[in-house]
Amino acid sequence: MRTAPQAPPPDACPPSAGTGGAAARRYHAQHGSVLPTIDPAAGSTAPRRHPGVPVIPLPYPPVFPSPPADRGPAASLECLGALLALLNGVTRIDWTDAGVGAGRPVPSGGGTYPGEVYAATASGLCHYLPSAHALELLSRTDLRAELARSLDQPPVDQPPLEQPESVLLITSRLDANLARYGPFGHRLQALDTGALTGQALTLLESAGAAPTAHARFADEELGRLLGLDYGAERVHAVVTARAPGAIAPGAPLLRRRTARSGFEPVPVPSAALRTVLEEAARPVPLDHAAPADCDLYVVAHRVTGLEPGCHRLDPRTGQLAPVTGDATPRGLFPPGGPGELAGFEAACAVLVTGDYESGYPGYGDRWYRMLNLRAGVIGQRIGLAAARAGLGAGLRCDVDTRAADAVLRTHRDRTTLLAVLLGQERGNGSPSCQLLGGKGPL
Ligand SMILES: Cc1cc2nc3c(=O)[nH]c(=O)nc-3n(C[C@H](O)[C@H](O)[C@H](O)COP(=O)(O)O)c2cc1C
Repeated sequence: MRTAPQAPPPDACPPSAGTGGAAARRYHAQHGSVLPTIDPAAGSTAPRRHPGVPVIPLPYPPVFPSPPADRGPAASLECLGALLALLNGVTRIDWTDAGVGAGRPVPSGGGTYPGEVYAATASGLCHYLPSAHALELLSRTDLRAELARSLDQPPVDQPPLEQPESVLLITSRLDANLARYGPFGHRLQALDTGALTGQALTLLESAGAAPTAHARFADEELGRLLGLDYGAERVHAVVTARAPGAIAPGAPLLRRRTARSGFEPVPVPSAALRTVLEEAARPVPLDHAAPADCDLYVVAHRVTGLEPGCHRLDPRTGQLAPVTGDATPRGLFPPGGPGELAGFEAACAVLVTGDYESGYPGYGDRWYRMLNLRAGVIGQRIGLAAARAGLGAGLRCDVDTRAADAVLRTHRDRTTLLAVLLGQERGNGSPSCQLLGGKGPL
């Protein structure tokens, strides 16, 4: 019998404000940078439900292309349904070692999906139920202006409107993945929030809605407006935007998934890698400036036209500059683990790196979450761009951080936040059945 997760010890949860980085530093040293003992049999806590509130079914299958949201209430519901299905809905059925599973458009560490999505519109505040593809109506009040007032940087892209037309709030269930990952799960939750935020930005950008992702806000106030139990679930990101135009998924967006059956040990063309890196290095529309950006490194093994070893992407020129010739994707992972084999088969690894110390003076402990969120956005972009380029991809948090940081050869406090293995997926990949069709450009 599984026991309920224990309340985390004081340093087990990265704080969001208060100690100028000291508490975040302590958390990272004890839990965030140490590969945890993973209990693969442990599941996630149940997705959030709000018993007793009205449930509004969304059109299923979603209408693609959805009508633009500004064409009245029915169009607005169809557009929201399309957006939420492609953000966090069930888009495919996967057959895995663990049995049959509901596949989502976004990756999530260990498939635990700690994230929940809330939407504030002119008609009120709703919570999305992915498995039912329905909305729980939490309030009929238009809370957008009030929500926007809780943001440190009110939306700048929406003048002369007093409020953003569309507000998505991404929360995390704090205990969702702790049974499997222990306190390391909190860092995974920040990366997962980033993946969901990245997907929201991708979808809203494609719908011409000029989105901005906010990581700085009054946490408790936003939680209060959503009616959350602050000790159990917290808002981790807010995405504000104009009213979206039509939303239509392309085949790559629906095809994105983890290369679960591994990679063929064959070379991939450098042109495909470059399109992935271009997408990953695009500026992220966030509510804050990063004191130091998330630099990207490639540890190449089998990339046609690229020497094996570690290369740093120059964000200004888009060129890869050699760092060291003796690094391999395999060497980034603990020996004997699943990452080592995946790393051996992969054509290359893209390392998303960041600098914790650079942000603590300006943003305090919250920078920890902000930096991991940024890395998650980049990870989501890499997975999607890989699907577009016909490459298999797998996000990995199970790197040996010390070994990975050693190949960066940097004298600054730069560290590896996330690794993405790329290559040609083995055979036809693991069996899966698409539930939705896509013809759009994404
Ligand atoms: C932040 C993050 C870290 C991940 N780390 C690992 C990992 O270390 N090993 C692994 O096999 N998969 C990892 N994954 C992939 C997830 O297991 C995968 O996304 C999830 O099972 C859902 O499957 P899908 O990506 O095919 O939709 C990670 C995903 C995310 C978002």
